[in-house]
Amino acid sequence: MENPFIYGKVVKGKYFADREKEIEVLTNELSRGQNVILFSPRRYGKTSLILNVLDGLREKGFLTIYIDLYPATTREKLIRIYAKAVSTVLTGRLEKILSELRELFTRIIPKISIGAGGGPEIEYEIKVEHKNLEEAFEEALQAPQKIASRRKKRVIVALDEFQEIGNLQDEDEIEKKIRTNIQHHDMVSYAFLGSKRHLMEKIFHDKNRPLYRIGSHIPLGKISFESFKRFIENHFQSGGFELEEGVIQEIIRISDGHPYYTQMLCSILWEMNLDKRKISLADVEKALLEALAREEHAYTTLWDSLTIKQKRFIEGLCTEKSIRPFSWEFIERYRLGSPATVQRVLQRLSEDGVIEKENGTYSLADVFFREWVIRKIRR
Ligand SMILES: Nc1ncnc2c1ncn2[C@@H]1O[C@H](COP(=O)(O)OP(=O)(O)O)[C@@H](O)[C@H]1O
Ligand SMILES: [Mg+2]
Repeated sequence: MENPFIYGKVVKGKYFADREKEIEVLTNELSRGQNVILFSPRRYGKTSLILNVLDGLREKGFLTIYIDLYPATTREKLIRIYAKAVSTVLTGRLEKILSELRELFTRIIPKISIGAGGGPEIEYEIKVEHKNLEEAFEEALQAPQKIASRRKKRVIVALDEFQEIGNLQDEDEIEKKIRTNIQHHDMVSYAFLGSKRHLMEKIFHDKNRPLYRIGSHIPLGKISFESFKRFIENHFQSGGFELEEGVIQEIIRISDGHPYYTQMLCSILWEMNLDKRKISLADVEKALLEALAREEHAYTTLWDSLTIKQKRFIEGLCTEKSIRPFSWEFIERYRLGSPATVQRVLQRLSEDGVIEKENGTYSLADVFFREWVIRKIRR
């Protein structure tokens, strides 16, 4: 039996836990034409969630388009990624697809090549003249609505890692273009997903920006203790594992219910105890140490890149049960200087994705890094 605990990849079906409520809300909103905005820290399960939602919507007869903007480092790439993703909903004979493509994208040249699976795969070349970029982008933005009207089917577009458009624009011109183009799309629903809170908030929470109120916000937290417990129990059980009392509580305590780190810990536990098929509390500690060993290089590199004040702040964050970062007590205990320094530290660490603010409290984004820091500074 394969290790059922998967991390670092999209999870679906029986490898995907819970999120029933989120799936229901997203499915309802998107199918009735409502745009949604979903942001959470990295590795909480946004991509997995939306892909599961899109699978369900496709089964209901919707056309779905998933666009990952993470690799969009230039405008040309953004357009190419967009156009390519949109074209995946075109089905039928190759000639028909090509003529439809030519209608949709007059500025983009499709190129057919043989894909990895042996079937034809469409790649895009964008006519390079700079003046065409704007029009090419508009055509890409318009395409989902055109397809929807022609097929008489609602199209659902998910834009993942949406905050990346921030790198490609001066001020907010791409956001403006998106708003102007999609606001009349009555046959298309959009889901905007992103991981970098400060960037996503800037785009969607500022009433002076074009995408303010473009959709409803769907919060995505960690997975609830009860559902994660059931998920873990079931998988270990079907692998014939025997768990000592309290093992699952301990796993979730260490991972703090964080989807990625919980899966990683379970995956290592599965691997390490495959022979005896028994897991004790001591094994959980061993698995954690194994996880820390695997990440040692990354954590050392990260730690070395921090300033002394950042290190002290993180020590405080990992030592105290809860912190009030701007209180003099905290500032003095961890030699942080002044509230202004703390402000700078917080801003920098948040922007770099080292810490996160959820429900008003700060924590390290990487829950194992916290364990690493605790072990390091105890010496
Ligand atoms: N619903 C879920 N059930 C189980 N594991 C999950 C779930 N959502 C996320 N994960 C775990 O978290 C990892 C990261 O998920 P991903 O969807 O890539 O998150 P994000 O897009 O927010 O960065 C997955 O590889 C998986 O290990
Ligand atoms: Mg993702």
